[in-house]
Amino acid sequence: RRHILSLADFTPLEYDTVLQTAVSFQEVLSRRTKKVPTLQGQVVTNLFFEPSTRTRSSFELAAKRLSADILNFAPGSSSLTKGETILDTAKTYLAMGTDMMVIRHKEAGVPQAIAAEMDRLDVKVGVLNAGDGLHEHPSQALLDLFTICTLLDSEKPRLSLLKGKKIAIVGDILHSRVARSNIWSLTASGAEVHLAGPPTLLPKLFADFVTVDGSDHFSSADLRISLSDLDRKLFLHWSLEPALRDADFVMTLRLQKERMTNHLLPSLREYHHQFGITRDRLKLCHADVKVLHPGPVNRGVEISSDLMDDPQFSLISQQVTSGVAVRMALLYLMGISRA
Ligand code: CP
Repeated sequence: RRHILSLADFTPLEYDTVLQTAVSFQEVLSRRTKKVPTLQGQVVTNLFFEPSTRTRSSFELAAKRLSADILNFAPGSSSLTKGETILDTAKTYLAMGTDMMVIRHKEAGVPQAIAAEMDRLDVKVGVLNAGDGLHEHPSQALLDLFTICTLLDSEKPRLSLLKGKKIAIVGDILHSRVARSNIWSLTASGAEVHLAGPPTLLPKLFADFVTVDGSDHFSSADLRISLSDLDRKLFLHWSLEPALRDADFVMTLRLQKERMTNHLLPSLREYHHQFGITRDRLKLCHADVKVLHPGPVNRGVEISSDLMDDPQFSLISQQVTSGVAVRMALLYLMGISRA
């Protein structure tokens, strides 16, 4: 596919292709030189209209490891501040010869709108969604999938390894684009996915679950888990225990205070008391349970500080490391689909 905007329509073959390609790039990254000439001469532009540490830097490093040239757009010092529109900004980078755009924006639908404009202009530019509002964060879910699957089989990670596994996603599901993308990938694998959080931070209905807030860029029907898809194993809990019981993996999510209205914001102490992941609570899970968090973390809120740093349980650093190989795979696969 030319663009990677959502995991809603990803096929098992596409997941496995990303996983296997990322294994190859992990091998490249283990070499002394760490670099291949795959995207030499191509231009990758990071268009991040919202802050980021991990995603922006790992796309930059991934592009550099593939020998592409990388442009980093900084909104605060750009001509956006003089009133230039987002589409005109994208077209400016297109005119400079950009081949792929990696886009993050606080509003859902912005990467889709830019991709649609590139298609309308009939240019072979690939657009990658690096997080749009509450909607999706596909590269994060793919690196989460890679982190879990390589733990189960480091040489041949594949979607089917997760069939029958129990995965708990805990916290601020309502505002989490990471949760939405992970739900698509993890339920596609045949895993049992259990969502748990305070009622104010959970979607009320399954059918509401992947609805995007206030985006008029495209049809919201595309963004729902259709009712016919409910044979996917997805469960919603207002308490932690049923989600954690016998879980193989626990994904904690950041409380996204910047996206909450005041009445949704629980006190941090109360949240940690009821939903914080601690060593004690992990005793409910499978003995080999592992904990993930996409970052950034509110230490001591979503997860206790000591657990976050404990390599016996925590895959958080591994997720960041995996991000480079997975993003190299995505840029490479988009590059060959454009050829
Ligand atoms: N997980 C994630 O998207 O982190 P950043 O906001 O630092 O990119």
